[in-house]
Amino acid sequence: MGSTRPVKIAGMGYYVPPHVLTNFDLEKMIDTSDSWIVERTGIRERRLASREVSTSDLAREAALACLKDAGVSPVDIDLIIVASASPDHLFPATACLVQHAIGALNAAAFDMEIGCTGFIYALATGTQYVASGMYKNVLVVGAECLSRLVDWTDRTTCCLFGDGAGAALLAEGQPGEGILGFHLGVDGSGGNLLSLPAGCARMPASKDTLEKRLHHIHMEGKPVFKFAVKIIDSAVTKVLEKCGRSPEDIGVLIPHQANLRIIESACARFGIPRERVMVNIDKYGNTSSASVPIAMCEALAEGRIRKGDLVVLVAFGAGLSYGSAAITW
Ligand code: UT7
Repeated sequence: MGSTRPVKIAGMGYYVPPHVLTNFDLEKMIDTSDSWIVERTGIRERRLASREVSTSDLAREAALACLKDAGVSPVDIDLIIVASASPDHLFPATACLVQHAIGALNAAAFDMEIGCTGFIYALATGTQYVASGMYKNVLVVGAECLSRLVDWTDRTTCCLFGDGAGAALLAEGQPGEGILGFHLGVDGSGGNLLSLPAGCARMPASKDTLEKRLHHIHMEGKPVFKFAVKIIDSAVTKVLEKCGRSPEDIGVLIPHQANLRIIESACARFGIPRERVMVNIDKYGNTSSASVPIAMCEALAEGRIRKGDLVVLVAFGAGLSYGSAAITW
């Protein structure tokens, strides 16, 4: 982090809605099977928000859990960044709704949208504010209500995604602890492979866009899968290089939970034993920008991350975007 202040994660929290939709439930809704979904993705069930709940509500719960963990009052937050591909609205920003909901009276707030990589980009952005000394406490939230955006008649996508939120509070750390570095990037030529085509400036809502079901997630799974396998490799390698570390140093790898086969290929590539890689895709599916912080919270709760461990985060998604982070816990 150069001559700037050290930045640490001072607390974390997550929230998933209680309603569980299993693969067996999906078998009754679309032409699919539990065995296909488990073999191709590793997903067994996912959480769905109830009708009256939206992304900002999930974000609020995760934020409050995070602040409790950090022992910090909402009025002491200087900035809230919400990463989401499924915000409550295009505007106002979901971060503004969260600011009001948690009573963060002194906070600035804005959203970031960079698909499933959102949490890593938001973490990198929040880190700069603390490292520069501009702000003391920055709350970073990844929150999604993807169940509202999937096409429940499209078996190729609707079985993949779930709802949830995870949050981290960034604050000044001691020298030698905390965030070591990031590697971020995009390949915009693949933007059409994973998108929500209609409802904005390029293709405003119309009878035609509704009939063609263009207000839902569209994904070409195979090329996105190939991109993910390749990019995990390079994003992890590059962030380790930037921090002067090697794959053997990784204490815990927290990958975006998009597909168990993608995670397994990363384990094989880096020779990391499975017990040092956090996997919870079976319970939650792909929660996009919430997946990394939720997995991190569960890894902490399970005692998998110990003080001094090198924790590496890696994610990829719409854009096509990617990002990795290295942290000394
Ligand atoms: O987080 C953002 C980043 N997203 C990702 O990383 C997702 C990356 N992609 C993937 O994870 C995989 O490509 C999928 C899980 C989406 C699909 O797996 P796949 O092995 O690439 O399957 P496929 O799309 O090639 O489909 C194989 C077959 C097809 O049937 P035919 O054409 O061979 O007869 C599909 O129609 O499986 C069929 N299929 C299904 N069958 C039962 C597709 N979805 C389903 C389903 N149930 N839900």
